Amino acid sequence: MADLPPVPRDAEAPARWPFVGRTAQLDAVRAILDDGPYAGVVVAGPPGAGKSRLAAQAVSERASGTVVTVRGTTAAADLPFGAVAHLLPERFPPDGGANPLRRAAEALRPPDGGTPLLNVDDAHLLDFASAALVHHMVLHCQARLLATVRSGEPAPDPVVALWKDGLVRRIELEPLPVEETGRLLAQVLGGRVETVTLRRLWRVTQGNLLYLREMVIAGRVSGALDEIGGLWRWGGDLSLTPRLHDLVEARIGELDEDERETLEFATFGEPLGADVLARLTDAAAVERCEARQLITGFRDGRRLQVRPAHPLYGEVVRARATPERARDLFARLADAVEATGARRRDDALRVTVWRLDSGTARRPHPLITACRLAMSVFDITLAQRLGRAAVAAGGGPAAAVPLAYALFFDDRPEEAEQVLRRVMDGPAAETDRSGYAWIRALGLTWSVGDADAHRVAEEAASAVTDPAVRQDLLVASAFVHFFAGRPLDSDRQLAAARRLGAVRNPASAAEAAVVEGLRLAHGGKTVPARALADATLRDATRWRDDTPDVYWSLQCVRLLSFLFEGDLTAAEEVTGLTRRLMREEAPWRLGVAGFDGHLAQIRLLRGQAADAVRFSREGIANLGGYKAGFAGLCLGELAHASALLGDGATAESALADAVDRSLRTFVPIDFPATLARPWVHAAAGDLDAAVAAALAAADDAETHGLRGYRMFALHDVVRLGAAPLVAGRLTRLCPAVDGPLAPVLARHAVAAAAGDGPELDAVSRAFERMGLLLHAAEAAAQAAAAYGPARRPGVFAASRAWALAGRCQGARSPALRGLTPPRLTARQREIAGLAATGLSNREIADRLTLSPRTVANHLVGVYRRLGVGDRAALADLLPRI
Ligand SMILES: Nc1ncnc2c1ncn2[C@@H]1O[C@H](COP(=O)(O)OP(=O)(O)OP(=O)(O)O)[C@@H](O)[C@H]1O
Ligand SMILES: [Mg+2]
Repeated sequence: MADLPPVPRDAEAPARWPFVGRTAQLDAVRAILDDGPYAGVVVAGPPGAGKSRLAAQAVSERASGTVVTVRGTTAAADLPFGAVAHLLPERFPPDGGANPLRRAAEALRPPDGGTPLLNVDDAHLLDFASAALVHHMVLHCQARLLATVRSGEPAPDPVVALWKDGLVRRIELEPLPVEETGRLLAQVLGGRVETVTLRRLWRVTQGNLLYLREMVIAGRVSGALDEIGGLWRWGGDLSLTPRLHDLVEARIGELDEDERETLEFATFGEPLGADVLARLTDAAAVERCEARQLITGFRDGRRLQVRPAHPLYGEVVRARATPERARDLFARLADAVEATGARRRDDALRVTVWRLDSGTARRPHPLITACRLAMSVFDITLAQRLGRAAVAAGGGPAAAVPLAYALFFDDRPEEAEQVLRRVMDGPAAETDRSGYAWIRALGLTWSVGDADAHRVAEEAASAVTDPAVRQDLLVASAFVHFFAGRPLDSDRQLAAARRLGAVRNPASAAEAAVVEGLRLAHGGKTVPARALADATLRDATRWRDDTPDVYWSLQCVRLLSFLFEGDLTAAEEVTGLTRRLMREEAPWRLGVAGFDGHLAQIRLLRGQAADAVRFSREGIANLGGYKAGFAGLCLGELAHASALLGDGATAESALADAVDRSLRTFVPIDFPATLARPWVHAAAGDLDAAVAAALAAADDAETHGLRGYRMFALHDVVRLGAAPLVAGRLTRLCPAVDGPLAPVLARHAVAAAAGDGPELDAVSRAFERMGLLLHAAEAAAQAAAAYGPARRPGVFAASRAWALAGRCQGARSPALRGLTPPRLTARQREIAGLAATGLSNREIADRLTLSPRTVANHLVGVYRRLGVGDRAALADLLPRI
């Protein structure tokens, strides 16, 4: 664990967090208080957004002047001058006389006669007299104002008049956005927070800093929030502490019977159709709950839905309900939704879950359907609950198979096998036996790494008579072979399946499309690969309830096809989309880890080595166990990126871990670990070993049918300075790989082997256009060497290489060693400096008494020398020279 200030265990007085973010809002407050037309500012926002803290920060920064502090409170809200009582003389008004406002204002004026700053917290809670006093003083320029109010709550008229009449400005403080929350947590915890954790914390706290702080303190005390591999991560459930519970309960306030029930329905049924809620409770109570901001409505397609206004209200309501109460609510919710006619796919799922929770689910069939529905949206935990209930209700093999599926994908293979074995103990139909073999073969491949899992499918296939069932099993066998790195066996089994006709079972047809799509993409046939993936995805309704993993794998086909074509933008788009879906819809960690790893891979190709380290670490934090799916991918990318950043120690240990932790059935997926090896040698200074490892990786890729990766491995030899060894091979390979990247890689090899400066220059520019910045820098450096340092084009190419390398987040590959910052003459530097500030050629000319033409000529020289094209790039680069 990182060194941290001790966790405050005294629940009553935890240390305050440092003030973070909110720069724009703080600037706005400062500007208004310092100067301008307004007599002050009111900061408005939802509870816990940080209004009071922002005001306190602004006050603490003020060097001089008297500050008069006033707070609105519920307790004093009915007492005239209650909020300012502590500032008034003991007997007030002194003579019981007239005009108490004026007298009170006099009492608040500082002895030095200056204009004080009135700092009013929670101005919406001021009693009417105090509110009138504040208004009076501001109106008559007897004070400037810095106040906070909760938005959406009623405030006394004189307070509202302050901004309504334009006396002061009202600024809105939105809940702290998720990115700023991330920065705040990083500062408080002293390290980055893993994205899944950040999103979960944000989702329950909704940018309410008061709640966030309580969660963090609780997480640190209980150990749920901990640092793993440089990342802060929340393990287990997000549970409420008693203190947070009390805080939220106080915020909810007193409820009458109907209001309580309304909030309960909105919580237990979240999100609940407004029409269903109307059936269940009293309309007036719903209105009151909305007015008190306890529940909130939102549109979802054509439906108006209702949910608690804050997720923590729901948590508190849940915690308050007894088990009997919860069962009763669930049963009534299920009845009400069924009575309105469950129309959507997710209605069926919800009603079944409610029936389960209310103890009224008796028939296995709806539970089986719901289990598959839950799995199809990657809610793996819910799928297991439903599946277990379905098995317990006597669902037999039809229940056991989807349950085993969910268990395998949640890294619980022993339990999955047990479930299957139990239902298969007695006599079973042929289709059940094959369903069992099919799921076992898939599950053992994904979660156990059993490279012999194909036997399970093949033995079952030889025992069945129904050709359609046989087909399913042959596809399963092809699947195992492919992931175990045996492409030819995979092809053979797929061909055998096809010989029995078109694959009939939609789930098997989809798995067959995965195997074929991956085979094509890895084989360089990226265009047909993508077409197949797209067509299968369009057909998702036919297979998604049986094999949702197909969705994931087909997105992989798409991403790899873009990657090998060199379309990094499209590849990143696919990755981002799938990664978000996996994280936000349901945190299915196995799926998340895979796409983290691929994102790291793409960023590294872009030359963004530090990003690659970051994303691969996120992936590693999401790995299921020690030996885990995607371990090779994530650790391999970490090794590769660290090596390029010159961190040989991390690179070496990550590579060793990658080898040790990989499953034997992730051969194509984990291949990036093999591609990392040359760079780990290079980081250790052993270029011969690096070249040998790259050549070995190319052979290895060939064996496993990974032509795209073979192309990268051969090209690495070019990057490592041994182009003559591979120029022929890359040129021959090139026509076999679709897309514009392969020809550039082949051109690079030929140009580097021939020492052809202009051609290397052209290759470098092609890489730059495709966004492969590190490759572009390396080719430019090789161009410089080919031209020779004494020649002008050599000087230009070296400058370009240097500038491109500067955009690679610190990556330093062997080809870039020896690059030095370009040198400018004194005159060039002077002109470049002025141009970088945005001055035109004419303005520079006037200032230096030169002709504009001379300035232009100098600038052309500067641009060439630095390898940049415009003033913005110049401004970016100059400070680094
Ligand atoms: N910018 C910030 N940086 C660090 N901590 C903050 C920041 N803003 C708020 N906090 C902390 O979050 C908690 C809630 O903030 P604060 O009390 O200012 O919220 P508020 O909007 O005034 O809430 P309420 O409506 O309940 O009065 C406090 O512990 C505060 O110190
Ligand atoms: Mg406050």
